[in-house]
Amino acid sequence: MRDKLKLVINTGGGDAPGLNAVIHAVVMGASRRGWQVYGSRNGYAGLLDTDELVPLTPEKVRGITSLGGTILGTTNRGNPFQLAHDHGDGKIEVLDVSDRVVTNFKRLGFDCLIAVGGDGSLRIASRFAEKGLPVVGVPKTIDNDLSATVMTFGFDTAVSTATDALDRLHSTASAHERVFVVEVMGRYAGWIALNSGISGSADVILIPEIPYDIESVCRRIMENELDGRRYALVVAAEGAAPVGGSMTHKGSGEPGRGEVLLGGLGEVLAREIAARTGKDTRSLVLGHLQRGGSPTTFDRLLATRFGAAAIRFIEQGMLNIMVAHAPPGMAPIPLAEAVRNTKNVPLDCDTVATALDLGICLGN
Ligand code: F6P
Repeated sequence: MRDKLKLVINTGGGDAPGLNAVIHAVVMGASRRGWQVYGSRNGYAGLLDTDELVPLTPEKVRGITSLGGTILGTTNRGNPFQLAHDHGDGKIEVLDVSDRVVTNFKRLGFDCLIAVGGDGSLRIASRFAEKGLPVVGVPKTIDNDLSATVMTFGFDTAVSTATDALDRLHSTASAHERVFVVEVMGRYAGWIALNSGISGSADVILIPEIPYDIESVCRRIMENELDGRRYALVVAAEGAAPVGGSMTHKGSGEPGRGEVLLGGLGEVLAREIAARTGKDTRSLVLGHLQRGGSPTTFDRLLATRFGAAAIRFIEQGMLNIMVAHAPPGMAPIPLAEAVRNTKNVPLDCDTVATALDLGICLGN
């Protein structure tokens, strides 16, 4: 590898608080070594069209560590292997433009791509590694569902936001003697629901890993009455499903995206709970509030450590890896291995045991 490297960084998939902290750390670490960094806007757009490529200098990234979102923009419809092209006449064609990305990467003289993303984006990055692009992945997702890393940044912020919402709902639920169903993010993994539900003293937590039985949920809600507590809080991950049933979704997905849009479970549960218990029941979807705003101190630090470690690994010639949080340090994990499995909530884990010890119903 050359001495003075030229890197390109992109952020892909749903945003997560801490993306800017990664970008900041990458640019600072690279610039101290005399390397250049370019940002590819909206995922791979900068490697398809050079107008979307921005030079990143320490001046450009000053003060961004505390900001939510990503200064580079992101998309979950920008997979170059499956890019939706709108012909403008109502026809949408799905194209594979990945070779163009590889050609541009080489023509522009880049030495490495730093891809910051969740499971979907890192799988795309891994496919580029197979096509010969030197890649370093940085794991991001508020869902915390990547198996190769103990934590992803964005998760702590999302859990804090959801816990804060539950704290606030206790008083209004109590005042009106209502049941509140709070729908949180978590497509295949229930980490946000579980962690915020315990921290925010929920009575019921529903996660994708445990199919729920509505009768058990209602029984637990009515148990509160025996203790003289005439209200209840239910936290449901958007991907939770009833025994023998399927996830609640809004549509069949968008072209070039590959995943259905989840949503609506909170409302479905609220209707069923009201019908079965006779209790005044409301639902609330926290949705993208969980992805917005400033990263917590924990996420800022974690994201900064990910970015700095990515630069150190590149300097050591470690390519086609994902930077993993392996306390007390950071570890390089082969990218193909890192994207193989997602991390669901193990039913025998300490957090699940804690919920059960507290008398929280997990739906079964
Ligand atoms: O992957 C994170 C996530 O928050 C999922 O839990 C959720 O299903 C998805 O993003 C929603 O993404 P968007 O609304 O951006 O399409």
